[in-house]
Amino acid sequence: MIDKNVYESMNIQWFPGHMTKAQRMIEENIKMVDAVCELLDARIPRASRNPDIDRLAAGKPRLVILNRCDLADPAITARWRKHYEQQGLSVLETDAKSGKGIKGFGPAVRALLADKQKEYEAKGQIGRPLRLMILGIPNVGKSTFINKVAGRKAAIAGDKPGVTRGKQWIHIDAGLDLLDTPGILWPKFDSQEVGELLAITNAIKAEVLDKETLGANFMLRLRQMYPHALMERYKFEPSPAMNGFELLEEAAKKRGFLVSRGEYDLERMANTLLSEYHDGKLGRLSLEEPNDGALDAGK
Ligand code: G4P
Repeated sequence: MIDKNVYESMNIQWFPGHMTKAQRMIEENIKMVDAVCELLDARIPRASRNPDIDRLAAGKPRLVILNRCDLADPAITARWRKHYEQQGLSVLETDAKSGKGIKGFGPAVRALLADKQKEYEAKGQIGRPLRLMILGIPNVGKSTFINKVAGRKAAIAGDKPGVTRGKQWIHIDAGLDLLDTPGILWPKFDSQEVGELLAITNAIKAEVLDKETLGANFMLRLRQMYPHALMERYKFEPSPAMNGFELLEEAAKKRGFLVSRGEYDLERMANTLLSEYHDGKLGRLSLEEPNDGALDAGK
């Protein structure tokens, strides 16, 4: 008997062309900053976090920024906040696209670096700006975040003594400088699940994957976690007896994506599903929860 909950296996490959260059950039610049701000996708904080950050940012105070919180399930985001705070990390929730949460950035950084500031002052370095770096995997929203944080006040400070030539700093406000180049961390995944989550959220190009299979697996995930969202958006009951492709087909039927008599365009439906999720049309849906592993069931 076929287990209807079995996720189709997908062969996800990753070719990290610029990985070494990106890593070197981080290593060169991290020495110059007082704190590291780590941007994560609030829908998939675990999958969008490269564990190398622990090594790269060792010894630096860290602020975890849960970005795209406009697309994430608020109750789950609150749990992630607690999860990181319990690990001693500071947390900020943002929607860099609209700017929501951005004004909390300055106060969060100042609170994080209060001791560092006192240290500078004790050394007579009154007014020395606190320097920050933004790190995150591609497409997590780093550029959008930096632009929003800098706002109209954005001013390139230019080179400073002791700073690598050509390095530019953006004054955020009095006493806070942000390195204008975000550090690109490579997404890391050794499991199909993480690869899928990265593809669903556009962190890796879904083009390299089989769209139908990705869509089918995403359907299974949604049925398990948010069946009501499926029902509301695609107007069908996601029966436990269906496999992922059947769920996709059911949605395609409802949308009228017919290619020939009785045959539906599953690829079109998969694309529709992914782009509607991307645009938040299915609601605010998180795909990972902290610790409890509840969302990993069915795998
Ligand atoms: P990167 O520098 O880390 O590579 O990411 P970038 O800022 O270029 O952002 C990637 C995409 O994510 C952008 O969309 C941006 O508008 C969107 N984005 C960034 N932060 C948020 C957020 O908090 N919420 C939402 N909903 N979107 C965010 P894009 O590729 O220009 O197109 P689109 O996704 O806006 O259609």
